[in-house]
Order: sequence, then structure tokens, then C-alpha cells
Amino acid sequence: MLSVETVDLSYGASRCLRGVSLAVKPGEVAAVLGRNGVGKSSLLRAIMGLERIQGGSITWEGRNLAGLSPADRARAGIGYVPQGREIFPFLTVQENLETALAAAPRGSKVDPEVFDLFPILRQFLRRRGGDLSGGQQQQLAIARAMTARPRMLILDEPTEGIQPNVIKDIGKVIRHLARDRNFAVVLVEQYFEFARDLADHITVMVRGEVALAGPTPALDEAAVRRLLTV
Ligand SMILES: Nc1ncnc2c1ncn2[C@@H]1O[C@H](COP(=O)(O)OP(=O)(O)O)[C@@H](O)[C@H]1O
Ligand SMILES: [Mg+2]
Repeated sequence: MLSVETVDLSYGASRCLRGVSLAVKPGEVAAVLGRNGVGKSSLLRAIMGLERIQGGSITWEGRNLAGLSPADRARAGIGYVPQGREIFPFLTVQENLETALAAAPRGSKVDPEVFDLFPILRQFLRRRGGDLSGGQQQQLAIARAMTARPRMLILDEPTEGIQPNVIKDIGKVIRHLARDRNFAVVLVEQYFEFARDLADHITVMVRGEVALAGPTPALDEAAVRRLLTV
């Protein structure tokens, strides 16, 4: 289980996260919603160890992550799919996937299951990352995270700038990983319907704080939408 407890994060004098808490168990999808600039990516970066928190704690499978590098966290089973995908444009699909093997158990190979999840990648193994469409790059970014054999995935706006048919495929994969493979999933989104249809619980952030949180069926959808539009 991932447990984020009352986390504070500042960039210099500028407070970015204040007392943010979030929990997600294996088999569950937790969605974090909020407008641009509320701190969603910073929260994921803090979970991944790419930002240092000034208060609170982040624990994963009972272990406090304080002091663990991003590479240590990847080896501890946390897979990260960053906003904007950050695939390597001059590396092939195969090579992009292989970059994640550093975080996998020694001697691992690219898991053929990623090609069952995203068949297009098998077809494009020798193509350069930069020559893929946005949707294909997003699938590659998820497949790359899977290559390190994580038990949790944190995804930062995976639907951003992606065509509806690919969004649907990505939704299916996220649901499959949570339901059938018992992954814990943290999904940061601005696309409300996508998050609602996948998430067991939803946290809405406003200006670095949790404004609303609860199980998806119990949430007041109108209130959530108001917080996403004001
Ligand atoms: N490295 C950084 N240095 C200074 N300020 C930052 C940095 N990264 C993000 N911020 C600021 O922190 C706030 C939250 O950003 P971010 O976490 O990217 O929000 P979101 O993902 O919700 O759009 C914004 O005001 C942003 O400008
Ligand atoms: Mg962001």
C-alpha cells in the first residue's frame, strides 16, 4: 500500500503542497484531479523521489521512502509515467524499453506481456520513439514503466493530447493492471470522465491542498466539476 501523509513541499519560498494525504491499496485506482498548477505533478514527483518533501511522510509497502533515490524507489516497485511521456526520441522502441531494465531484477528482459497490452509496440520495435504518434508514445511510456516489473504505477495525465481510441485502450490497460494484476495505481488527470470511470477513489486538489476526497460513488460530481473549472 502507498500512504502519503500530510506532505508539505516548497520550491524555495513558494509553497506547492500543504498537508496532502492520499492512500492507495493494491488492486485500487486512486485518481488525483485538479486544474493546471495545483501541484499534481509535484505530488507524483515527490512520491518518486524527484522532489524532496519538507514535511509529512510517504510510505510504500510499509517502508518509509525518505532518503531513497528515484532509482531505489523504482527498484522497490514504483513505476512512473511522467507528464509529457519523456520517451527518448532518438532511441528505438526496443531501446526505450531497455532503459527501464536497470530498475528490474538482474538478468531481466523486456516482458513480452507489454506487447500483449500494447500490440502496436511489437510492430514498431525498430522505429524511433520520436517517429511515433502521441498516443503510441504514451503506450511506450507505460510499457517502459512496466519493464521495470513494478507493483504500483503512478501516471501523470496519460490522456493529455491523445486521440479518443487510444485513450480507451489506455483505460483498459489501467483497469486490467489494477483488477487482474493487483497493481496499486495513482492516476493524475484533468479529464474527469476518464478518471471517474477508472478510479475507486478521487482526490481533488486546489492550490496545493486537498479540497475534496472520497470513494468515487459517494462523490458529489457537481462539486468536483466546480473545483475543476473555477
Ligand atoms: N521546479 C519547480 N520550481 C519552482 N516552481 C515549480 C517547479 N515545479 C513546479 N512549480 C510550481 O509549482 C506549482 C505546481 O506545479 P505542478 O506540480 O506542475 O502542478 P500541476 O501538475 O497540477 O499542473 C506551480 O505553481 C508551478 O509553477
Ligand atoms: Mg502536471
